[in-house]
Amino acid sequence: MKYKFCGRSGLQLPVVSLGLWQNFGSVDIFENGRAIIHRAFESGITHFDLANNYGPLPGSAEENFGRILSRDFTGHLRDELIISSKAGFDMWEGPYGKGSSRKYLVASLDQSLRRMGLDYVDIFYSHRYDEHTPIEETMMALDSIVRQGKALYAGISNYEKSEAETAIKILKKLGTPCLIHQPKYSMLQRTPEDGLFDVLEKYGVGCIPYSPLAQGLLTSRYLKGIPSDSRAARPNPSLKTADITQQTVDMLNALNNIAMRRGQTLAQLALSWVLREPRVTTVLIGASSVEQLNDNLQVLSAAKIDDSDLAEIERLLSSR
Ligand SMILES: NC(=O)c1ccc[n+]([C@@H]2O[C@H](COP(=O)([O-])OP(=O)(O)OC[C@H]3O[C@@H](n4cnc5c(N)ncnc54)[C@H](OP(=O)(O)O)[C@@H]3O)[C@@H](O)[C@H]2O)c1
Repeated sequence: MKYKFCGRSGLQLPVVSLGLWQNFGSVDIFENGRAIIHRAFESGITHFDLANNYGPLPGSAEENFGRILSRDFTGHLRDELIISSKAGFDMWEGPYGKGSSRKYLVASLDQSLRRMGLDYVDIFYSHRYDEHTPIEETMMALDSIVRQGKALYAGISNYEKSEAETAIKILKKLGTPCLIHQPKYSMLQRTPEDGLFDVLEKYGVGCIPYSPLAQGLLTSRYLKGIPSDSRAARPNPSLKTADITQQTVDMLNALNNIAMRRGQTLAQLALSWVLREPRVTTVLIGASSVEQLNDNLQVLSAAKIDDSDLAEIERLLSSR
């Protein structure tokens, strides 16, 4: 594993991090998730990303992760782990179970700590900007959570560039620097290139792009249809089959040809592409099997994408 300093902080993160949004909930096979976590840690992935609502059911990914921690990662091993959680999206009924108020963030983090059996998380995020809450209130909540020792660092996720800049400035003034931003970024979703990366660089904030494989689209999964065990085939899938058009599949196959020419899988090419961006600290992947994780880990030994392949990728992406 390679480790990289997160922005201008003293914290190093593995360049590949593992997220538990899907595949670790109460509807999933516990031992499969446990095996993925073990393989991740053995390979040097020290950073595990969670949120209050991960599952399904909401909360169950944190519960399962807590069970794995209490069985397999006891004692000093807590000191080898960077564990994050978040609050911002809908979690429980009523006015205090969603948004970005201080009330919700503090109550939700207490619940997350109980579910995971932890005294503190390493990183706590405001999961989203909330237009109904003054941004000062949200940042003050993050600052006081860090001062209370319930989180070591503060982060923001899904904040657009101007919201991010405001948040980063307030946190700086409060004395709790923003450690990291977690935006969506992949070959198929490039919004952070329109100024967000510049903001993060300017203020020395790290960046952990989520869904770098576009939820599995940028892998061999959908090159020949929709497999029955894939994310797109789940009930109420977050990856909509309507997004898997013939035009997209044709482009994915063309990208796959570039990957094969480089001796890579499409997933490895997609991760190499995200990691080519110097402002990216670590890629936040998901995996539904140990085999997928092993495949993705090979990005660590991949050659840089050369200029002619980069130009060809650019042409394919802009043809969509
Ligand atoms: N901050 C936020 O708002 C936010 C939102 C979304 C996600 N996240 C974070 O980002 C993490 C990753 O998101 P994601 O799961 O969407 O990431 P992703 O890496 O883009 O997609 C993961 C999915 O791709 C497929 N896959 C992965 N590696 C593969 C391989 N080598 N070959 C074939 N298929 C492969 C699997 O799909 P199958 O299940 O079909 O096998 C896997 O579940 C989450 O767990 C969460 O921590 C944060």
